[in-house]
Amino acid sequence: MPEFLKLASVSDLTDGEKLLVEAEDRFVILFRIGNDFFCIDDVCTHDGGTLSDGSHEGCEIECPRHGARFDMRTGKAMCMPATKDTLAHEVKVDGEDILVKIKDE
Ligand code: FES
Repeated sequence: MPEFLKLASVSDLTDGEKLLVEAEDRFVILFRIGNDFFCIDDVCTHDGGTLSDGSHEGCEIECPRHGARFDMRTGKAMCMPATKDTLAHEVKVDGEDILVKIKDE
């Protein structure tokens, strides 16, 4: 049963920023939008691109390799060439701590 892990502090991210974090043998990206935090795998489902190297705007991040976009709130693949969602992980904030429950495949 996965548990919530502290991956960062609220003050590590300003509004609109993202942060790459290693957790449980994988890399995940934390995003802050206002006072909301989201977490997805650092993997593009098209061909394994590194999403954290891509740019993001609003709630979407674009893979730098072929331009697939994913919704950072849900991991949903928003456009071709990706057809499969990337994993999104549950986030909660406890005081200053950003806690994430890393989901398995
Ligand atoms: S690897 Fe991400 S769009 Fe191709």
